[in-house]
Amino acid sequence: MSMRGPGAGKGGFRAVDEDAQRRANAAAPRIPELGRRVAALFRPYRGRLAVTCALVVVGAAVGVIPPLLVERIFDDALFPLDGSPPRLDLLAVLVGSMIGLFVAGAGIGIGQTWLTSTVGNRVTGDLRIRMFDHLQAMDLGFFTRTKTGVIQSRLQNDVGGVSGVLTNTVTSILGNTVTVVSALVAMLLIDWRLTLIAVVMMPILIVVQRRVGQVRARIAGQTQESLSELSAITQETLSVSGILLSKSFNRQRAESDRYAAENRTQIGLQVRQAMSGQGFFAVVQVIMSSVPAVIYLVAGFFISGDAAPITAGAVVAFTTVQARLLMPLMGLMRVALDLQTSRALFARIFEYLDLTPAIADAPRAVPVSAAPGPVGRIEFRDVSFRYPDAGAESPATLDGVTFIAEPGQHIAFVGPSGAGKTTILYLAPRLYEPTAGAVLFAGADVRTLAHASIIDDIGIVSQETYLFHASIRDNLRYARPDATDAEIEAACVAANIHHVISGFEDGYDTTVGERGYRLSGGEKQRIAIARVLLKDPPILLLDEATSALDTVSERVVQEAIDAASRGRTTLSIAHRLSTVVGADVIHVVDGGRIVESGTHVELLGRGGLYATLAAQQLAAGRIDGLG
Ligand SMILES: Nc1ncnc2c1ncn2[C@@H]1O[C@H](COP(=O)(O)OP(=O)(O)O)[C@@H](O)[C@H]1O
Ligand SMILES: [Mg+2]
Repeated sequence: MSMRGPGAGKGGFRAVDEDAQRRANAAAPRIPELGRRVAALFRPYRGRLAVTCALVVVGAAVGVIPPLLVERIFDDALFPLDGSPPRLDLLAVLVGSMIGLFVAGAGIGIGQTWLTSTVGNRVTGDLRIRMFDHLQAMDLGFFTRTKTGVIQSRLQNDVGGVSGVLTNTVTSILGNTVTVVSALVAMLLIDWRLTLIAVVMMPILIVVQRRVGQVRARIAGQTQESLSELSAITQETLSVSGILLSKSFNRQRAESDRYAAENRTQIGLQVRQAMSGQGFFAVVQVIMSSVPAVIYLVAGFFISGDAAPITAGAVVAFTTVQARLLMPLMGLMRVALDLQTSRALFARIFEYLDLTPAIADAPRAVPVSAAPGPVGRIEFRDVSFRYPDAGAESPATLDGVTFIAEPGQHIAFVGPSGAGKTTILYLAPRLYEPTAGAVLFAGADVRTLAHASIIDDIGIVSQETYLFHASIRDNLRYARPDATDAEIEAACVAANIHHVISGFEDGYDTTVGERGYRLSGGEKQRIAIARVLLKDPPILLLDEATSALDTVSERVVQEAIDAASRGRTTLSIAHRLSTVVGADVIHVVDGGRIVESGTHVELLGRGGLYATLAAQQLAAGRIDGLG
């Protein structure tokens, strides 16, 4: 694995952020736009949402009736205004109705919670899937320049962060609005003068709330940034490669410090986020709680002054309703605050969903089978290429590369490290796209072909073997889920790894460990070769497929590869020239250009770079059988 230092990683992270920023700016996501997109997420659940809304409205209505009954209980049943004795029969009916309403309210609450949480969680789940699928469609370049931890964090922390908002917002807004409105109506019905006094502070509170929300949104953005940085450090450090690196350089202390520093930032932000608005809510609470006291005072003036008098029942009922106003009002303000906060998160999520893969199928892409030429023919026409994040002033990675591989031919690429050999292999199946020139697959420009059908026709053994943390059998089946055990074994025999696997206690059921660390480099490489043999594609791309093998197993694997590549077009990169002696054409790559081409014998005879490389390897005793 090519470990990147923290500095390099940081650069990659910035690069994508700027990238995303640029694209996001181009799309200029405005706030109503954001709201519209969030609303669109709920579209598949319109039915449930409608039922939820109905329940919320009914529930809220059921909730405001009891206080109105309180007025009747006091003024008609307990202390009838005409001074007659209490009316127990009416009291029983009123109290019974009240309890009945409470029971109904509780039942509606349960149903509403069930509906809310199913809709909310499904919308969150849909968003997660969309993000996952979209990220999978991104081009290879995106992953080489973005930290894995940062990507994971967008999926986990950002989508997870909006889950609460997606679950609660709709019912909270609706439920609280209905409660507030119905409470206001009830208050107006009881006494309009007291109502006026009770709501006089509202407009000020709403203005302050908006300011608090803006601050919270800014902090939320920073919190998510810091969370993703934390995930990135965790992912980089607490992986097999990362821990190996830090242990071998005694860097655990430094890594801990790096983590601790980011952790401090995170704690600070979390506390700031939790505290922002607390003062505001305290003020709201004090004001709202003081209202009944003020009401008693005003009622006193009403009763003793020459204004229209007020009954005890009306005062009690009014303060009961007013007290019920506190929670929904606070609830509404919190939702407004949460919405403002989540805007930052939604913006981050949509920013990722708006990233367009640099490489995608053309609208009228055709499968390889519809291409004019034979499958197995690969042609590079004057291909130049520069990695997207390489500086514009740096020399091109590939410069005017031209070659043809006819079906069944073995074409080899040799040359110094960094010459561009791996890059050529990446361009053939359009994992990257040429900056200039064209790559033709079966006679058609790869840009006109359906990408999946190209991939179906090729098998890649890359320089870095990647195995999943699963059994060897499952790793092999990845290439062909329906492969039988016999086919798997046959592939492993061909790749000269069967005897090794059989020697393991659990055989093919041995778990390979994170990224295959339980296996030696050579074993991993041979499993990777077996995996490709199992896929059985007409084209093989081999990037130093035998480099991690000792000379003895190399010869055996080379035989397997030679046998496997018979009848298939093979593009191979070799470090050891001994493995390409039999190639139909050998291209010598240097500085992004093909500087020499020919067979082994022809190239030796030319006395150029190839001859020099061969002489060096011969001198180092690494080449055998090269007469
Ligand atoms: N993802 C990348 N982004 C930017 N530059 C890259 C990337 N991958 C490789 N390069 C650069 O491109 C050049 C060719 O790399 P590569 O094709 O891997 O060489 P080779 O396989 O011949 O050793 C090198 O200079 C390398 O640093
Ligand atoms: Mg390479």
